[in-house]
Amino acid sequence: MKNRDLLERSRKAVWHPCTQMKTHERFPLVPVERGKGAWLYDYDGRRYLDAVGSWWVNVLGHAHPRINAAVSDQLERLEHVMLAGFTHAPVVELSERLGAITGGRLGHCFYASDGASAVEIALKMSFHYWRNTGRPEKRAFVALAGGYHGETLGALSVTDVPLFRDAYAPLLRQGRTVPSPDWRNAERGEGAFEYAVRCASNLERYFHEHHEETAALIVEPLVQCAAGMAMYHPEYLRRASELCERYEAHLIADEIAVGCGRTGTFLACEQASVLPDFLCLSKGLSGGYLPLSVVLTTERVYQAFYDDDVARGFLHSHSYTGNPLACRAALATLSILEEERVLEANRAKQSLLTEKARGIASHPRVRHWRNTGMIWAFDVETDDPEFARRFHAAALERELLLRPLGRTVYFMPPYVIAPEEVDLLARVATEGIGLACA
Ligand SMILES: Cc1ncc(COP(=O)(O)O)c(C=O)c1O
Repeated sequence: MKNRDLLERSRKAVWHPCTQMKTHERFPLVPVERGKGAWLYDYDGRRYLDAVGSWWVNVLGHAHPRINAAVSDQLERLEHVMLAGFTHAPVVELSERLGAITGGRLGHCFYASDGASAVEIALKMSFHYWRNTGRPEKRAFVALAGGYHGETLGALSVTDVPLFRDAYAPLLRQGRTVPSPDWRNAERGEGAFEYAVRCASNLERYFHEHHEETAALIVEPLVQCAAGMAMYHPEYLRRASELCERYEAHLIADEIAVGCGRTGTFLACEQASVLPDFLCLSKGLSGGYLPLSVVLTTERVYQAFYDDDVARGFLHSHSYTGNPLACRAALATLSILEEERVLEANRAKQSLLTEKARGIASHPRVRHWRNTGMIWAFDVETDDPEFARRFHAAALERELLLRPLGRTVYFMPPYVIAPEEVDLLARVATEGIGLACA
C-alpha cells in the first residue's frame, strides 16, 4: 500500500474530526502506517517526529515495549467485561494507585473513555452532590475565559472557544466565565504572579455575587491548552481553591491534557499544593494507547451518594467504562513513569529544548515565548489566515509534525524525545517561522 491509495478512500469514507473536510482538497491527510518512539512513519517510507504527542495523548512514545507487553498479556486474559456488577484486577489496581498519588484524599475513581465524558461525569456528580445534600439551587458552573473541556454538550457548555461553541449555542447551558489568568493579558510591568492575584480577585467578586447558585468552578490547571497554550501562575489555582472552599463550591480540575507529568509534576495541581474535589484525567493516562478517562473524587462526595435509595446513587455509565486493556496500558504507563524516573529526566530535556530554541525566543516575529514542563509555545506575528496550515506543511516536508493553533505554535513531544530529536525540533521550527511567513 502507498500513501495515495488511502487518501481518496479516507476522504470518501471517513469523516475526520475537528475538520472542514473541504480543506483536504488542498491540504492532504497524512497517512500513518506505524509508529516507534517519537516517530510516525507513512506508507511511502517517510517519517515525522511527533512533536504534538498525537493530540497530547502520547507521553512515552509509540509502540513502547513495556506497554505493548502489558496490553498483549491482558489480551490473553480478558479483553473486556462490564463494570456494573463486575470488577477485575486491572481496574482495582489502577484505582488504588491513582488514589495513592493524591495521598488517598481522592480515593474514589469513576471511569469513562474520552476526556469529554470525564468532564460530563464531574459536572453531573457536582450538581447531584448538591442535590443530595439539600442544595438543588447550586447548579451553575463557572469556567475560565478561553477554557476548553471537550465537545459533548455538557462539556461544551463550560467551554469558551467560539469556533467550537457558537454553532451549538442554542443547545447549551448559558456559559459563565471569569477572566483567565493567562499572563499574556497582564498589563505592561505586571508580572504573572500579580496578574494571577488580580484575576483571583475577579473570581472572588463572581463568588460573592453568585455562590448560592454555583455548583463548581472548572479549570485547566496551569495551561489552557486549546486556548493556545495559555499559561498562568500557580498562585491563581491556590487562591481559586481557597475561594471554592470559602464559598462552598466544588473545584473541578480538568487535567485531561496537563496531567500525567506534562507540566513537570505528575499533577499540575501539585505545583499549587491544592487538591480539587474532582480531578479529571485522560489522554496520557493510558500512555496514549487506548481511550480511558477517570474522575477521582473525595470520601465526602462519595458518601453523599451512598444510600439505600437507588436514585441517590450516581447512575451514569458508558459501555467501555474501566476497560481492562486500557487499565493495563495505564498501569504500565504509571510504572514506567515511576521506575524510570521519567519526570526527573524530563527536567534535563526541558532545559535542553529551551536552550536549543533560543533562536525562536528572540525571533523578530515571535511574541510570548513560554514554557511549562514539557509544553512550549510562542505566538507568531502574521496576518496570514493560512499560517497554521503553511507552517504545518513546511515542517512536515522537513520530517517534523507540528499543528499550530491559529498563530500559536506549540511543542508537546513524547517524553522519550532524544537530544538529536530535540535538535531537529528546534531547528525546523525556527526555519518554519520564516518559511510560513514568506
Ligand atoms: C483540557 C481538556 N479537557 C477535555 C478534553 C476533551 O477530551 P476528549 O477529546 O478526549 O474528549 C480535552 C481535549 O483536548 C482537553 O484538552
